[in-house]
Amino acid sequence: MKVTVVGAGAVGASCAEYIAIKDFAAEVVLIDIKEGFAEGKAMDLMQTASLNGFDTKVTGTTNDYSKTAGSDVAVITSGIPRKPGMTREELISTNAGIVKNVAESLMKHSPDVIIIVVSNPMDTMTYLAHKATGLAKNRIIGMGGALDSARFKYRLAEALDCPASDVDGMVIGGHSDTGMIPLTRLATRNSVPVSEFLDQGKLDYVRDETKVGGATLTKLLGTSAWYAPGAAVSAMVQAIACDSQKMFPCSSYLEGEYGLSDICLGVPAIIGRNGIERLVEIDLNDAEKANMEESAAAVSKMNDVLKEMNLV
Ligand code: LAC
Repeated sequence: MKVTVVGAGAVGASCAEYIAIKDFAAEVVLIDIKEGFAEGKAMDLMQTASLNGFDTKVTGTTNDYSKTAGSDVAVITSGIPRKPGMTREELISTNAGIVKNVAESLMKHSPDVIIIVVSNPMDTMTYLAHKATGLAKNRIIGMGGALDSARFKYRLAEALDCPASDVDGMVIGGHSDTGMIPLTRLATRNSVPVSEFLDQGKLDYVRDETKVGGATLTKLLGTSAWYAPGAAVSAMVQAIACDSQKMFPCSSYLEGEYGLSDICLGVPAIIGRNGIERLVEIDLNDAEKANMEESAAAVSKMNDVLKEMNLV
């Protein structure tokens, strides 16, 4: 398994680090436009190999896509992160051109690659990658739901005062402060619905804090988070590498599922060697369906901006 990570910033580097530490891939190529940066991060990471006990070979390159040739999976983290007070949507004018360029450059050397998009606004950048590459829809996956669900479980565990490994839950919909849909109704602690332990006020608090999870960290850090985003992507790459058939909510190109078409939005997907092996349609109640429609409408509006920019 050869994995390319485009963008050696904080998210790209932590993604490469987690992939290396988990030791399931033969090779990780870090690529960045900043001269020497990816090479430096790769060398620093390789100097942890004997300490952390991994055999994955991590290399870096300054924008030489020939080094990414034959990648099985590529992760796109390129572009600018948000600053405190910004929404992910405000990044579109800078990031859209970058993501299109990156997707096309990857395709020249790895025509059968599976692409995982992290750059924001993530659902729209996933849609753009889908249109720009012409890859089959199972080979373009947006990372968002996996991260948002991890943040949901963090907040649930905090409210329940229990370890995160005790809780299960999923966030579907768009990867935005307003578009996320934490499914509190279906969340459980060891198979027991969390509503058995938490009153409506606490559930609403968990939902609201989950939705602004990224914004809360951006305010604290002065820039977008990296550990949980990096861990979420590496978990998805691992599911592909190991053909795990693991379920993650992730931004997927929809053709009628959940009543939506020609859009990439977060829905439960089974991830394996072919990327998205299949989508899972769960029964949503009326309120959740309405949330899904609102979320889709907001993402469609962002996708229209791509058309105005002549990118799709
Ligand atoms: C976040 C970015 C990756 O939510 O969108 O932290």
